[in-house]
Amino acid sequence: MKKIWNVECKNLVGERVELYGFVESVRDHGKIIFFDLRDRSGIIQLVINSNNPYFSLAKEVKPESVVKVEGKVKEREPHLINPNLETGKVEVEIEKLEVLSKAKPLPFDVSTDGYEIDEALRLKYRYLDLRRKRLQKNLINRNKVLLFFRNYLHARGFVEIETPMLTKSTPEGARDFVVPSRLFPGKFYALPQSPQQYKQLLMVSGFERYFQIARCIRDEDPRGDRQPEFTQLDMEMSYVTRDDVLNFIEEMFIEMVETLYPHKKITQVPFPRLTYEEAMRIYGSDKPDLRKDPNNPNELAFAFIIDFPMFEWKETENRWDAVHHPFTQPKLPDGSKDKDELIKALETSPEILLSEQYDFVCNGYEIGGGSIRTTDPDVLIKVFEVMGNPKEKVLEKFGHLIEAFSFGVPPHGGIAPGIDRIMMILEGEPNIREVIAFPKTGEGRDLMMNAPSEIDEAQLKELKIKVEISKEEK
Ligand code: AMO
Repeated sequence: MKKIWNVECKNLVGERVELYGFVESVRDHGKIIFFDLRDRSGIIQLVINSNNPYFSLAKEVKPESVVKVEGKVKEREPHLINPNLETGKVEVEIEKLEVLSKAKPLPFDVSTDGYEIDEALRLKYRYLDLRRKRLQKNLINRNKVLLFFRNYLHARGFVEIETPMLTKSTPEGARDFVVPSRLFPGKFYALPQSPQQYKQLLMVSGFERYFQIARCIRDEDPRGDRQPEFTQLDMEMSYVTRDDVLNFIEEMFIEMVETLYPHKKITQVPFPRLTYEEAMRIYGSDKPDLRKDPNNPNELAFAFIIDFPMFEWKETENRWDAVHHPFTQPKLPDGSKDKDELIKALETSPEILLSEQYDFVCNGYEIGGGSIRTTDPDVLIKVFEVMGNPKEKVLEKFGHLIEAFSFGVPPHGGIAPGIDRIMMILEGEPNIREVIAFPKTGEGRDLMMNAPSEIDEAQLKELKIKVEISKEEK
């Protein structure tokens, strides 16, 4: 006999089947015991009578134990049909029962949606929390969305390329997580805040259309829609305009929603394109919630925000910073990208400059960001200078990119939709932790693995690292 999924039983009345799964509940009526057996496909009711030789074993079975069952699928009496269960018209009469693994009592109930349980406890026992139907659905749907994007992009000539995790920092507006090098004591790698520089260099290499389901790592204060590590659908294309990128994203997202979430309604097609100035003036936000009915869980109001200012003044650091990142193409208020004019404005009045940055927003969240890039080395160096980096420092930190652009560079641009935020919205979840298998807490801790944690003295010694923490900082 071959293992089958629980839900397949509904079409196998009269047949003998072999089932495996977790015992979700036990209802002992003395001479007859009912179990709800759960596998990934769903729940099936099992029943065993006192005349069965396995009855005494069945009496001992505790919830959440893992069992193997052989039995016969039977139609239920009409008054015993459970309309809430996909397999509610049938049950399996146990002929043979084997307990593969006993379970001690779980720290919480996994048969509910789980919102009522303390989140710290859920995260400590995340592997149990993930037995919950809601979280299984979230992760299975996340997989479907990623697979949809992957297939969609492959079909349109994109190449999926992995870029390094051990690298040098790319400024994306957050602090870096750093990794000490054992072979080069005193030197550090930075974990990527995004694959930004690599994907641009892949355009210099001539790949033309790149994508990656990329893990990004940023040391910033976590919020409900932020995690220190998260996933982007990172894309870059050569020979494109801003509208080419936006049209492409728009078509891909419409098709994804129609295919995987057909019950959802997109508020407006084509997606509205608002300038940053319009969004701020009309809605007071650069990620406006454009839903007609914010209480409708099935409404998706996508929009693009365009024409962001190139720079913003950073009061704390007393310097200009790029609103998106320094690789974004600046433009004059009239849209001109004339090189001489741009250099003049960068030197004298950076505050007037707009940029080719665009944000992708949905229901009041920023779900993606991107831009057309600066490929002229002189303009790029000037942008870095405006941000307070002297030319020597620019060449030291970004010399590889600037040199790359001197060997022939196709004009290019890209975007990176954030998968976690998109899944949070599609699944109607209150925060991104609910759509991530093993998320970190609000303070960036992994309560299950107990990370971050101290490392051995020997490891520190090998890395030539000395830890100095005062008592107050502990
Ligand atoms: P940006 O920094 O705007 O652009 O990020 C793109 C998208 O990634 C998601 N995101 C996050 N999601 C969860 N937790 C976080 N801490 C977090 N930070 C960002 C958001 C955001 O819109 N390299 C550029 C892209 C480009 O220019 O092509 C970049 O990373 O949904």
